[in-house]
Amino acid sequence: MQKLEVFGANKLKGEINISGSKNASLPILAATLLTNKKVYLNNLPKVKDIETMISLLRSLGSKTKFNKKNLIVDNSKQNKNFASYNLVKTMRAGILVLGPLLAKFGRAKVSLPGGCAIGTRPVDLHLKALSKLGVKYKIIQGYIHATAPKGLIGTKITFSKISVGATENLIIAATLAKGTTILKNCAIEPEIKDLTNFLIKLGCNLKWLSNRTIRIKGVKNIHEIKYSVMFDRIEAGTYLVAAAATEGNLRIKKVIPEIIKTEINILKRIGAKIILKKNQIHIYGNKTIRNTNIKTAPYPGFPTDLQAQIMVLLCKANRKSLIKEDIFENRFMHVSELNRMGAKILIKGNKALIEGNIKFTAAELMATDLRASVSLILAALTTRGKSIINRIYHLDRGYENIEKKLKRVGAKIRRIN
Ligand code: EPZ
Repeated sequence: MQKLEVFGANKLKGEINISGSKNASLPILAATLLTNKKVYLNNLPKVKDIETMISLLRSLGSKTKFNKKNLIVDNSKQNKNFASYNLVKTMRAGILVLGPLLAKFGRAKVSLPGGCAIGTRPVDLHLKALSKLGVKYKIIQGYIHATAPKGLIGTKITFSKISVGATENLIIAATLAKGTTILKNCAIEPEIKDLTNFLIKLGCNLKWLSNRTIRIKGVKNIHEIKYSVMFDRIEAGTYLVAAAATEGNLRIKKVIPEIIKTEINILKRIGAKIILKKNQIHIYGNKTIRNTNIKTAPYPGFPTDLQAQIMVLLCKANRKSLIKEDIFENRFMHVSELNRMGAKILIKGNKALIEGNIKFTAAELMATDLRASVSLILAALTTRGKSIINRIYHLDRGYENIEKKLKRVGAKIRRIN
């Protein structure tokens, strides 16, 4: 089992190039199932979840190969519609092949994704909305057996709750449905906009009508295309917090600052100095970190995927702060590990009360989920001494070359077996 060894404390200084977005790449990879033509995808991050999604596509009969920077996906002979548990269990986003398989074949057998550390992660919203498109399904021994006896038929659907995955699954499914589908109360994360840009380039007929409403007209033929995936806004936010937490000075490159203005405004409120340029953000951490209260929310609110990271920063603020986790029911797994490093965080339901003026102490730690693991690295970077972080396979699911990127800006960090 690999571990990370981090020697703090260092002020991070230098440049970091942000990789492609994991959470934009996953639905786009699933959506390649819609076409029998070749798709060339650029800027995919080299992370475990992408490898797993590619393995899932290959298990469905897709041909995939990398040439230089592009992944080429050829689904001309893709003919299977069974997504197995052993692939979907390690990467919940496997549920995103359900929509395209139903659109293409009218039937699919996909494993229920199961839960993970941050919550039960149900898929009821996906299934309820798909049944409105004419899908019949049964859950048998942990698998969704779904069929569309008369094909997918466009209709009006309003999501009862905002869900990134359900929105993505339905948008993809509706692109080949008969007639027009209107989806209301959609999630509008930038990764979903990247997916719809990809689908429009593929030849699908989609139009965002208003803030959370999209109209999709079913089409028959779609083209062969090249597409470059957007930057990873959570990776960018993570390194911005790292600069603020270590009183560092970082230039974060290959980003679109406008997309993460909520995070930028909060970091400014906390005291960081931030200069925006066309595709880069220059951040200077401040000695004084001001406290603030944060509530996670669907985009354009503060992202739940940055909650663990900003919590580290707020432990070092000049006064008490409060974080309300409104998206997942159990996304405070990092708190017990941060408290072992000297934090004083009290959990009450979905609220975390965070004492300020904390000086973390180095410790041996356990990662529990992707974003929790990176918050432990941030805390370890701010304190003198050697910290060890175990179970870093969580980290490798979503951060490309994190030790290399951090080492390049002055962190003393190495992977040990
Ligand atoms: C996506 O997960 C992201 N994953 C998550 O990022 C992110 O935290 C989440 O959106 C929220 O932004 C990918 O894009 C691959 P949801 P998803 O459906 O689609 C409940 C990371 O670290 N819900 O928006 O699973 C659900 O339990 C990961 O990169 C239902 O009740 O999130 C949660 O409480 C972690 N029924 C809330 O909605 C459903 O059918 C939001 O979930 C679906 C979801």
